[in-house]
Amino acid sequence: MTGTGDAQKAFYITSPIYYVSGQPHIGTAYTTIACDVLARYQRLRGRDVVFATGTDEHGQKVVRGAADAGMSPQDFVDGLVADYKRAWERLHVEYSRFIRTTEPEHTRLVQRVFARLVASGDIYKAEYTGWYCIPCETYLLEQDLDDGNCPECGRPTEQVSQEAYFFRTSKYADALLHHIEEHEDFIGPDSRRNEVIAFIKSGLRDSCVSRTRSDWDIPVPDDESQSVYVWFDALLNYLTVAGYGDDEDRFERIWPADVQLMGKDILPRFHATIWPAMLMALGLPLPRTLFGHGWWSDADGQKMSKSKGNFIDPFETVQRLVEYSGTRTAFAVDALRYYVLREVPFGLDGSFSMRGLLSRFNADLANDLGNLLNRSLPLLQRYVDGIVPEAGPASGALAEDIARTVAGMETQLERLNYRDALIALWQLIARCNKFVDEREPWLLHKQGKRVELDAVLYDVVDCIRAVAILVSPFMPEVGEEVWDQLGLKHAGTRMSWADARAGALAPGTHINRGVPIFPRIDIDGVLAEQPEAAEEQQAATAKANAISFKQFQAVELVTGKVVEAERVPEADKLLVLRVDVGEAQPRQIVAGLAEHFNPRQLLGRTVIVVANLEPATIRGIESNGMILAAGEKQPLALITTDGEVEPGHKVR
Ligand code: MSP
Repeated sequence: MTGTGDAQKAFYITSPIYYVSGQPHIGTAYTTIACDVLARYQRLRGRDVVFATGTDEHGQKVVRGAADAGMSPQDFVDGLVADYKRAWERLHVEYSRFIRTTEPEHTRLVQRVFARLVASGDIYKAEYTGWYCIPCETYLLEQDLDDGNCPECGRPTEQVSQEAYFFRTSKYADALLHHIEEHEDFIGPDSRRNEVIAFIKSGLRDSCVSRTRSDWDIPVPDDESQSVYVWFDALLNYLTVAGYGDDEDRFERIWPADVQLMGKDILPRFHATIWPAMLMALGLPLPRTLFGHGWWSDADGQKMSKSKGNFIDPFETVQRLVEYSGTRTAFAVDALRYYVLREVPFGLDGSFSMRGLLSRFNADLANDLGNLLNRSLPLLQRYVDGIVPEAGPASGALAEDIARTVAGMETQLERLNYRDALIALWQLIARCNKFVDEREPWLLHKQGKRVELDAVLYDVVDCIRAVAILVSPFMPEVGEEVWDQLGLKHAGTRMSWADARAGALAPGTHINRGVPIFPRIDIDGVLAEQPEAAEEQQAATAKANAISFKQFQAVELVTGKVVEAERVPEADKLLVLRVDVGEAQPRQIVAGLAEHFNPRQLLGRTVIVVANLEPATIRGIESNGMILAAGEKQPLALITTDGEVEPGHKVR
C-alpha cells in the first residue's frame, strides 16, 4: 500500500468527492480527516503526496437545490464549495488538490473517456426501464426497491423509461473477481471484501451511464439527447486529478492511486465494481487499496439524515469542547480528530456521543498526554534551567519503547488501523509517564545525582519529542504546540518521521513551557445542563424497573440470519455480527459470544434478535439489537428455530 518503492511515484490518496447539496457533517468530515492523517503521515515520511478531495457537482439534486434556493446552479454550487473548503481548513485538512466536477478539465476528460468507450464498444445504447433515486443518484430495478422506496436512503424513487447508454460492467466480472482474489489489499476491510465478492458473484448487470439530457450535466459527446450519469462522471475525478490523457508525466508520477477511502455505502457497487471495470476498459492499472469505513450514527444510534435533522455538526461539537474545557479551538479540533479515529475501529460503525468524546478528552488527552507534558517540562525548568541536558551514557532508557511504537504504528497505518496506531502511541505515553514515576527525578536531584538526573530528564524530553512527531498526523496543531513547548520550533528544527527515534534531541535546546493544552472537563457538571443528559437519566431509571405485560409485548423479537461475524479487536468476549433481519441492510450487533463461538461457526445460523432494543455503543462500536442465548455451559446454547424460517419473521 505504500506504493512501488520507486521514489518517483507519488503517494496518491483520495477521498470521495462530496455532493454539494448540504454542509459538511461528521460523516464527510470523518472520511476527509482519515485521508488527511494518512497524507500527513506519508509527508512526514518524506513521500511526495497527492491528496485529493473535492465536490461532486452535477445531478438533478443540484438543479433542484438551486431552484429551491432561487439561484442558478453555478452560484448555488460555488457557495457550497466555499463552505466545504472553509470546513476542511478549519478541521486542519491539508489537501493538495480540490477537484470540482464542473471544472473544464474534468468535463473534457469525462467526454473523452465516454467517447473512447463508445468507440471500443464498452459503452452501448439500449432501452432502460427502471427506477431512480435522486438523492442517491442511483439507478434501481424493481426488485431492489424497499416498498417502492430507495433501499439506501428510504426515500421515494422515480420511474424512468428512456433510451440510455450502458457500460459493460458485466464483461469485467471475471477479471475483477480474479483481481480481488489475487490482491488481498485491494479491498478492505475483510468484511467489505467478502461483500464485494458476493455482490459480483451474484451476477453483474451492465451499468446505465447516461440520463435524459439536462442542461446542468455533462453532455454525452455527439448525442444531443443524453447527459453523462453523475456517478460515471464523479468516479472519473480520480483520473482528472492524476492528469490522465492530459499530462503524461504527471499521470506516470501519480497513477495508480495508493489509497482510496470512502464510506461503506459507496464501496461495493460503485468503487469496487463499476470503477475498476471502467479502469480495466481503459487498460489502466487498478488502485492499490479501496477501503470502506463504517458509518457514524447519532448518540441514539439513529442514522444521521437531513430529514431527521440529526446531523452532527463538527463545528458545533468543537465549540462545545472549547466552552467546556477552555482549550483553544485548534486543540479542540484536534481532539475531535483524535476521537473519531480512536473510538471505533476504522471499518466498523460507531455512534457519536458527546459523553464519549469528553471521556476521551479527559482520559487520553488531559490525563495521559497533557499530564506528561505538564509535569515533565517544569522538572527541566526547576533542575536544569529549562535547557535540555547532555544525554550521557546512562540515557536511552526509552529507546526500545520508542522504536517498538514507531514500528507498531507503521504496521497499523499500513493497514489503515488508525485506532490501533493510536493505542500503540498511547502505550508509549503511558510508559513515559511511568518512567518519570519510577525514576523519581526529584529524588535524584535531592541526592545530587546529577548524571542520572540529566539522563532521565533527557530521555523524558526526547521521548516527548518523538510523541510530538508521532501524534502530529492525527493532531497537527497539538504536535506543533508540543514542538514549540520543547523549544524545537524556535530552534528551527523540522519534524520528520525518521527522527522519531531516541537520541535525536539536541542538548542545549531551550524549552519553552506553555499553558496546559487540555484542561480537564467536569463531565457530569457540563452535561447536566444539556437536555440529552436528562434523557439518559430517564432511560437509566426506566431500565431499573420491572416491566409490565404491555412492556413485554413491546419487545420485538424477530428471526435473523448471521451473515458476517468477526472478533472485536482487543475484546476477549465480543464478536461483531451482521445479522440479516429482513431489512434492506443487515444489522450490526455486538454480542458477548466470543468465548463460546468461533466467528465462522455462527455464519448462516438462524438466531432470535431483539430488534427494537435501543442502540448501544459497546467498545465504541454501534450495536443495534441483541441475540438471544441461554445456559451456563461453554458454549452457550443459541436460541434458534426448530424449522427453517426466513429472516425478519416476528417471534410470537
Ligand atoms: N458524491 C458521492 C461520492 C462520489 S465519489 C466518486 C457521495 N457523496 S456524499 O457526500 O453523499 O458522501 C460522501 C461520503 O461521506 C461517503 O463516503 C459516505 O460514506 C460518507 N458519509 C456520509 N454520512 C456518513 C456517516 N453518517 N458516517 C460516516 N460516513 C458517512 O456519496
